[in-house]
Amino acid sequence: MKRILVTGATGQIGTDLVDKLMEVYGDDNILSCSRRARPDNWAGTHYESLDVTDGKRFYELAKDFKADTILHLAAVLSAVGEDNPQLLWDINVNGLYNSLEIARELDTALFVPSSIGAFGPSTPKMDTPQVTLQRPTTAYGVSKVAGELLCDYYFKRFGVDTRGVRFPGLISYKALPGGGTTDYAVHIYYDALEKGSYTSFIGKGTYMDMMYMPDAVDCILDLMEADPDKLIDRNAFNVSGMSFEPEEIKASIQKYIPDFTMDYDVDPVRQAIADSWPDRMDISAAKEQWGFDPKYDLDAMTKDMLEKLAKK
Ligand code: SER
Repeated sequence: MKRILVTGATGQIGTDLVDKLMEVYGDDNILSCSRRARPDNWAGTHYESLDVTDGKRFYELAKDFKADTILHLAAVLSAVGEDNPQLLWDINVNGLYNSLEIARELDTALFVPSSIGAFGPSTPKMDTPQVTLQRPTTAYGVSKVAGELLCDYYFKRFGVDTRGVRFPGLISYKALPGGGTTDYAVHIYYDALEKGSYTSFIGKGTYMDMMYMPDAVDCILDLMEADPDKLIDRNAFNVSGMSFEPEEIKASIQKYIPDFTMDYDVDPVRQAIADSWPDRMDISAAKEQWGFDPKYDLDAMTKDMLEKLAKK
């Protein structure tokens, strides 16, 4: 049975992922770490406060827990990173460096999420290949490319079992995203239910890859269980469940809430970031090498999001 340490456990991905990990591997084998307080529904589970830039504490927690796998989710997202690139570098790169060194010293596997943000304006926008130009123009993107390369380096040089995916915008109902460019596609569902209308900070016609959280969680588990001999790319695989622009998610919500309306108040910073990212990635490497198989399309996601959020 795996012993898994999760950093950034109370973030948007961690909140869903930890619940699933406890279901699959048992509560006792999961150590959730975060700078925030322990969520109420994790009472009685292993939980530690951790700032990932504190390498000594990070190492001691992993060692004492006898972790054999680290899922390193702690990171600053793209929009917050443009406000504070210094903070972003400290957490995204120095925190990642700590996780790599700990994985090397303790011989653990390591999952690190990369992002569509690892691409830039010179990357092909349609069917963005697995291996292509990566010259991002955001602090977030630079940190993600550095992360992909560092993870590849630790695998080749030290044999650390590093694995990763390039996540698209992730949509979920349990925890809100923490300041990204794709967040509009989460906020829109909250406002649809609460106000019946939404003002989008991303402009009409802006396509980005997206995925529903249950598919994102499954993809982390599947990749970490995949046969290492089949993994050619490792850091990091393009993954996506769908690609849409604001008018399409609006139309999807209108199928369930016919009176829903949307207008625009475009944020130039986040719009420029979105414009520099792919419209739709090629996900064939993930399918071929470890069987990536997302279940939710836009309408299936909308139905589930609205049902779950209405209950919440
Ligand atoms: N959701 C992230 C962001 O918008 C992209 O990986 O920053």
